[in-house]
Amino acid sequence: MSTLLITGGAGFIGANFAAYWRRSRPADRVVILDALTYAGNFDSISALCDGEYCRFVHGDICDAAAVQTLFQEHDFDMVVHFAAESHVDRSIYASQVFTRTNVQGTHVLLDAALSAWKSSFEGRRFHHISTDEVFGSLAPEEAPWTELARYDPTSPYAASKAASDFLVRSYAHTHGLPVTITNCSNNYGPYQFPEKLIPLMILNALTGQKLPIYGDGGNIRDWLYVEDHCAAIASVLDRGRQGETYNVGGGHQIPNIELVGQLCDTIGRRFAEDEGLAERFPDCPAASGRTTRSLMTFVRDRPGHDRRYAICADKLAHELGFRAGTTLADGLARTVDWYLANDAWWRRIHSGAYREWVKLHYGTEPKRSLASL
Ligand code: NAD
Ligand code: DAU
Repeated sequence: MSTLLITGGAGFIGANFAAYWRRSRPADRVVILDALTYAGNFDSISALCDGEYCRFVHGDICDAAAVQTLFQEHDFDMVVHFAAESHVDRSIYASQVFTRTNVQGTHVLLDAALSAWKSSFEGRRFHHISTDEVFGSLAPEEAPWTELARYDPTSPYAASKAASDFLVRSYAHTHGLPVTITNCSNNYGPYQFPEKLIPLMILNALTGQKLPIYGDGGNIRDWLYVEDHCAAIASVLDRGRQGETYNVGGGHQIPNIELVGQLCDTIGRRFAEDEGLAERFPDCPAASGRTTRSLMTFVRDRPGHDRRYAICADKLAHELGFRAGTTLADGLARTVDWYLANDAWWRRIHSGAYREWVKLHYGTEPKRSLASL
């Protein structure tokens, strides 16, 4: 039986990971530490938090005293560190909080783990969740990144994640802290905040708003279904070698414009199969027999927009026997179905944190602004 600290467990991937861990290791104890920023949502984990096997702590990873107290209260075997500012667009408009959370917050956690575990590192693990964005951008003909690719971050978000990776490595090298790192590609699935491409497009489609495609829509991402990511992390925690970095990718490279087209078609199919959807989402073009693709709109590009990401996940496959198994078509269908079935979850966000973000980013209220970009 292990005791895990999951930071950022009320966010998208952290909430999926906490659910995955509770399902697959019911005897373990989980403590979720989350500051509940705009991206954190207690609704995503409330069903898991029984107070005994899974406990929620509302707190900031940058608060060294609170983090140290938490390590004194619980004998953590593992830290799985998701907490971060995670949205590239936000890091373009307001980046200071990225340095604070992603760099300083990681540093605080490393110090707390080191001080709590220093008498013996036996059975301990600090696992840091990082991103493929630390590697920069690939040209069309370049091979996918391996773990040995050079760090070349281009956005303030990616730079802050790269800095946190280096801190984690430095604690392993200098102090012998037992760490592992995973650098993964774009995740998608249930509970993702609707500022990120896939949930944004689904919810805009369902509510009849434009689908804003940055630039020419030719930017390529490598999409990883979140449950595959959770399983990959579990395999690294179980069998990964200390001090090592593992890349995690979905193996599904696709230009944004094609991805959004596929999403529109999936939504169209669901409306054709289920007449009740037209009543629940009357503003979606599919509700009146029109194609959802009609909402696709090219808008001003993201400054410094990385052209292509692609991950080589061979190390994970060869060393740990793990490969992501969800096909893109299946993952997108499951994701669309989840957002169709869980509108109570996203409607609360839509009227609060999402609205504030659209105002900050686009300068006006959601509906008009996205249409007029
Ligand atoms: P998210 O933005 O959905 O969630 C982040 C969570 O961290 C939120 O619950 C938020 O409240 C919490 N948080 C933020 N600041 C905090 C602080 N100071 N103290 C405590 N909690 C705080 O992010 P996500 O998409 O779930 O990403 C999780 C991790 O995975 C991040 O480290 C991100 O860099 C990394 N990652 C994400 C993706 C992706 O596609 N989403 C891909 C690669 C790597
Ligand atoms: O690659 C891993 C990274 O993936 C993670 O580290 C980040 O936390 C995560 O946010 C994600 O970063 P991206 O910038 O790739 O994701 P985003 O969903 O913001 O955008 C995906 C692509 O879609 C990107 O090329 C920009 C484009 N895009 C995005 C939005 C929000 C659009 O064309 N229109 C949009 O409205």
